[in-house]
Amino acid sequence: MSEERSVVVVVGSANVDVVARVPRIPGPGETLLATSVARGAGGKGANQAVGAARAGGAPTWFVGRLGDDGDAALLRASLLGAGVELDAVEISSEPTGTALISVSDDGENAIVVVGGANADLTSLSPTQLERIATAGVVVAQLEVPLPTVLAAAQARRPGASFVLNAAPSAPLPDELLREVDVLVVNEHELADLVPGLEPEAAAQRVLGRVGAVVVTLGSRGCLVVEQERTTQVAALPVAVVDTTGAGDTFCGVLAARLAAGDDLVEAARWGSVAGALAVERPGAQDAVPTAAEVREARNVQGEPS
Ligand code: RIB
Repeated sequence: MSEERSVVVVVGSANVDVVARVPRIPGPGETLLATSVARGAGGKGANQAVGAARAGGAPTWFVGRLGDDGDAALLRASLLGAGVELDAVEISSEPTGTALISVSDDGENAIVVVGGANADLTSLSPTQLERIATAGVVVAQLEVPLPTVLAAAQARRPGASFVLNAAPSAPLPDELLREVDVLVVNEHELADLVPGLEPEAAAQRVLGRVGAVVVTLGSRGCLVVEQERTTQVAALPVAVVDTTGAGDTFCGVLAARLAAGDDLVEAARWGSVAGALAVERPGAQDAVPTAAEVREARNVQGEPS
């Protein structure tokens, strides 16, 4: 593990998650009684920033927009508590983003996002662009406007990596794909990009257009598809409580390990262990493990192969 760390900048969304625990995910037109409701810090971008910061020392900045409201205070406290730098976060006249989440007894979820201030990140300020230009690894997802994601990728310095987590699913223009060094997708997002193929074959198709593809496969681990090799990384077996944010933890930790000098497969191994630990706990940012917890899980339970 190299100790020379470069900066991670995560460009993306921050939401307050309103989470209802339900026996199962409701169908269309169905009303279900929840057993509890809780509010917590979430949003794919903010979750990934927390994942990167908790991974152990890669200085991490979050670039995004929050409302001028109490929800923003909740998010700031969570991000700052994890060690994320917030000087490139701007205040929007729109309310802080909200996610309405149902989590079933088997830990699955269904999420509706109300973009608010995230949707208002229609451009990057000079401060935000400057911060992006300091990064060794720039990370983005798709809960903020696509032109902003492209602008962030293009603002990175030569040699810096751009990691795109293409979630939630959206058509990806070639102009954006050309910028991507590492594309992280789950099976559903990959199938939306390349329908009708098994994950490895689908990822190979995308590989012509991006540097590498990581396909997260839930309890089956992940697939790291690079030009020269394909590697299956197994998942740690865990008791599932809540899968919300596990993919974000994976992405954040992967980015931090890339910034620390690991190769993509090794970074994915760290991400996979961290993501597995995150599903054992409720919530999104609250569930992100520390570096020490991830290290211990790797030592105790063995390396994911
Ligand atoms: O990926 C999980 C996240 O998606 C939640 O925290 C929610 O806010 C939505 O952005």
